Amino acid sequence: MNAVPPGPAARFPFRHLLGIEGLHPPQIEALLDLAESYALLNRSGKTQRDLLRGRTLINLFFEDSTRTRMSFELAGKRLGADVLSMAVATSSVNKGETLLDTAATLNAMNCDLLVVRHAASGAPALLAQKVDAAVINAGDGTHEHPTQALLDALTIRRHKGRLAGLTVAICGDIAHSRVARSNIHLLIAMGSRVHLVGPPTLMPAAVDRLGAHVFHDMAQGLAGADIVMMLRLQRERTARGLVPSAREYFRFWGLDAARLALARPDALVMHPGPMNRGVEIDSQVADDPARSLIREQVEMGVAVRMAVLDVLARAPRGRRAKPAA
Ligand code: ASP
Ligand code: CP
Repeated sequence: MNAVPPGPAARFPFRHLLGIEGLHPPQIEALLDLAESYALLNRSGKTQRDLLRGRTLINLFFEDSTRTRMSFELAGKRLGADVLSMAVATSSVNKGETLLDTAATLNAMNCDLLVVRHAASGAPALLAQKVDAAVINAGDGTHEHPTQALLDALTIRRHKGRLAGLTVAICGDIAHSRVARSNIHLLIAMGSRVHLVGPPTLMPAAVDRLGAHVFHDMAQGLAGADIVMMLRLQRERTARGLVPSAREYFRFWGLDAARLALARPDALVMHPGPMNRGVEIDSQVADDPARSLIREQVEMGVAVRMAVLDVLARAPRGRRAKPAA
């Protein structure tokens, strides 16, 4: 069965997916269109097990994950790949094996697709230069989380019908968020207006160069927003003292129903997960089926990852001179 047309693969001519920055709108659209067809296929209960038959996908996660790792596993299995997830905590990394040697070891097992999450920004890009497998960035430090931005865009497009012309308020710990960075690149490329809302201590250096509008006040930042995207405080990457207590943080920067009322009346709520309830988001809005897209984001994560595996698996194998996206 080949229910999904191969066309989009031709419109995404890259060997790896390392980030959103630098992708052109038609390439983003190609991935979103393909992901939409996988979303429909998934909902119909059908699978497409032939596409990646005989291919090997390895998840290599040096940082914790629930959604990204599980959905890459599911996506790979739905497309028929042999899927392995290396348990880094019990691997030979603990005996001192380096990231590059670990990747070279997996490469020697003829891995076709290597999905990498690492605390160091740039780690997947480094691996992409060393292995024959297609490398997918599943989140690197504070740099990028490209499949998250794609699944967010797909979710928005399904509800608002478009990305161009929308106002998306991204709120909270922008400085340490790879989700924010990938979303900023994608949304601006696709013609959305992006509001970045948070305290000055949680804004990245050179924020003015990102092409977004910066607000240090929730009321101003949420005004006119079609989408309110909340972010978790990245405590694992944050120096102590950047934020007050969780309760204080929620008082100034948290989203509850009263704050959501400051956005457009039909504004929808997103969060990449995992949520810290009562810190950046209140349960009443997180769990409101009329306003919250959080569960659908997770569902779209599977479809987007199927689309990414699909296009990369169709690209020729082996190292290439062409720089990766
Ligand atoms: N899960 C996302 C990430 O790994 C967001 C978060 O952890 O807050 O970047
Ligand atoms: N959104 C996201 O990346 O979630 P995980 O950290 O659980 O994978």
